[in-house]
Amino acid sequence: MTIRSVVIGVGHYLPDRVVENSEFEATLDTTDEWIRSRSGIERRHFAAPDQPTSDLAIRAARAALGNAGLTGADIDAIILATSTADLTFPSAATMVQGAIGMTGGFAFDVQAVCAGFVYALTTANALIQAGSARRVLVIGAETFSRIIDMTDRATCVLFGDGAGALILEAQEGTGSASDRGILATDLHSDGTLRDLLYVDGGVSTQSTGYLRMEGKEVFRHAVEKLAETAHAALGKIGLGADDVDWVVPHQANIRIIQSTARKLGVGMDRVVVTVQDHGNTSAASIPLALSVGVANGQIKRGELLVTEAIGGGLAWGAVVLRW
Ligand code: UT7
Repeated sequence: MTIRSVVIGVGHYLPDRVVENSEFEATLDTTDEWIRSRSGIERRHFAAPDQPTSDLAIRAARAALGNAGLTGADIDAIILATSTADLTFPSAATMVQGAIGMTGGFAFDVQAVCAGFVYALTTANALIQAGSARRVLVIGAETFSRIIDMTDRATCVLFGDGAGALILEAQEGTGSASDRGILATDLHSDGTLRDLLYVDGGVSTQSTGYLRMEGKEVFRHAVEKLAETAHAALGKIGLGADDVDWVVPHQANIRIIQSTARKLGVGMDRVVVTVQDHGNTSAASIPLALSVGVANGQIKRGELLVTEAIGGGLAWGAVVLRW
């Protein structure tokens, strides 16, 4: 018998304020046409000034609980992927725990920037397979609008705010690739590449700081590493690109998504794309795409999904799961 981490609920939340590309034209030397053609982004959501990341996470968590027909009392662990937690501590995950009426168990944040949700899923799966938790709420939530330099046209037009959540439950599987649930994971990081994408502030500087990125270099690494990690994860369970129903990639740039799909050998008709409406929401982008993909009828029970992401660190990885 193999214990599998099976998705039993999904949900998301996007802040009310929608920022169209054209809004940036008023303050920056940029155009809607440049942003669309270089990134595929048309609009993004920004949180309200008094709305912290935990608020987005709580709303996404409630949506996923509702989708699963559960309450907070049914959850025994929360893992929240974020690089924009409300405070230095406590974790945003414990804030969610307090808000949803989860009376036992444990909660913590995972910080792997845009790869955060892939790291969080891998951690949740390991806890479930070790018998440390039975039902895990895995959330990706970010307010990158707070760490973008609004005078830097090369970065500020790319990011947005949002949250998505999944609930994973321990279920018995056969051990074969036809099981539902997480089937394989593949994680990497390379700290020698830290200067390509970072925030120039934090506890050591006593300021929050702003995101800085060597866009072209990150792009180059993304195209090379994402297809590799997705192939590696599939290979661990003897599957290949032909077996994949949906690629659910990190949503940073449509050109990265297209190049990775091409390298993987998967047509764009089998890729869930939300970057045009959300921009890059870092750790929230994959659960947002999963939730939107289910809501619009693309992703169905029993289908094979590959998620892949890369971000600051650099940190990257992939998860293969059967929905
Ligand atoms: O999620 C974490 C991972 N992050 C990513 O995956 C992001 C990866 N990188 C990218 O998506 C792309 O590199 C960008 C979208 C950031 C940039 O696209 P690019 O095709 O690599 O453009 P570039 O940086 O080479 O810039 C081309 C030109 C430059 O002008 P010159 O030097 O050719 O005169 C930039 O100054 O475009 C200029 N530029 C802009 N022009 C108008 C940069 N940003 C803008 C802008 N509007 N917003």
